[in-house]
Amino acid sequence: MDRADFTLDKDVIYLNHGSFGPSTRRTQEARRYWIDRLEQQPMRFLTREMEPALQNAMEPLAALVGTDPKNMTFVDNATFGMNVVARTIPLSRGDEVLLTDHEYGAVMRTWRQRCRETGAEMVVKKLPDPIEDRQEIVDEFLSGITEQTKVIVISHVTSATAAILPVQEICQAARQLKIPVCIDGPHAVGMIPVNLEQIGCDFYCASCHKWMSAPFGTGFLYVSPRWQHRVKPAVISWGGSVSGQPASWQDEFNWIGTRDVSGFLAIPEAIRCLEEHGWERFREQTHDMVRNAAQRIETLTGQGPVVPDDRSWYGSMVAIPIPGPITEGEQHGRRDPLQVALRDDYRIEIPVYTWKQTRFIRVSSHLYNTEDDINQLLQALERVKDKSSAIQEE
Ligand SMILES: Cc1ncc(COP(=O)(O)O)c(C=O)c1O
Repeated sequence: MDRADFTLDKDVIYLNHGSFGPSTRRTQEARRYWIDRLEQQPMRFLTREMEPALQNAMEPLAALVGTDPKNMTFVDNATFGMNVVARTIPLSRGDEVLLTDHEYGAVMRTWRQRCRETGAEMVVKKLPDPIEDRQEIVDEFLSGITEQTKVIVISHVTSATAAILPVQEICQAARQLKIPVCIDGPHAVGMIPVNLEQIGCDFYCASCHKWMSAPFGTGFLYVSPRWQHRVKPAVISWGGSVSGQPASWQDEFNWIGTRDVSGFLAIPEAIRCLEEHGWERFREQTHDMVRNAAQRIETLTGQGPVVPDDRSWYGSMVAIPIPGPITEGEQHGRRDPLQVALRDDYRIEIPVYTWKQTRFIRVSSHLYNTEDDINQLLQALERVKDKSSAIQEE
């Protein structure tokens, strides 16, 4: 697979699959098939065909992430799944929610709000810096557990630092203490092998529109059997099967009012595309490309990634600290001037952001990227560096 399999604008150098991953032509066509099917006979589709079709679509996805389809439900994105989990975990005054300091901003906000509503507290545990030892991360993070800890929330692959965290070890330890673990996994699914049964978490929230290149607005929520009867839906609707199937916990998610589920039904095609290319080949190719980018940026700036140079620590995305002014308020639409310059002057879409007073550039690679994209990025960074004073004044 290469760029010809996608429909990206000809003149864009797209190095931000980690935020929003476009899907292949084939996956887009598969989605259109289901949109047409709905439009041709809405009653047939929505009340008779939709539920069995969702069940069929879940099978290859559940196989990809190593669990039974009965433990999964489709949701629009990881954010939706995380909100369901935040509603589901019983919390009251004095209880604690343990998170790492690398968690995604919207995830932090979801739990902060839930804690405010319930009187619980967020305990944000700082991970070791530098990140270099798995056991050290586990020990340091788990030292944040107290008698009051009611849930642990941790990314499988972090957003700002693009680090693969030792979630399985954390789940193992938490299980002994009977503390549920919710994994925020949108970057992991597709980018690295994920086996939910092996990981042993209670909840796993994922988006399929990142590394799987599934249609936008697709994700899943995994709920372990011990929680399925207690899941609190984020949206209240009929709460039963529209096609008269036996009741299941997924009913609350399959029908959240009338909507377009074509994206979910095209997920099997997205999986087929990557399977045909070869998952391992895809992972190796994209890792090698971002590794090369990281090494070249390090040569330019003198700073390397915040994780060790090894595939067990980062996959198809790498975050590299860069010198220069820091930008606050990015969540409110303020963009780093370097990101703006790369976009406006060089047609390169790549995130540049400040995280904990450090400025980062995050390089993602998917099958439409080529070494030439990295060459162009490096050339642009060199030129921008030469006139960096101008950038700093913006
Ligand atoms: C670690 C992490 N969690 C959650 C999300 C939210 O994903 P989505 O917008 O698909 O819900 C992101 C998005 O980039 C992320 O990086």
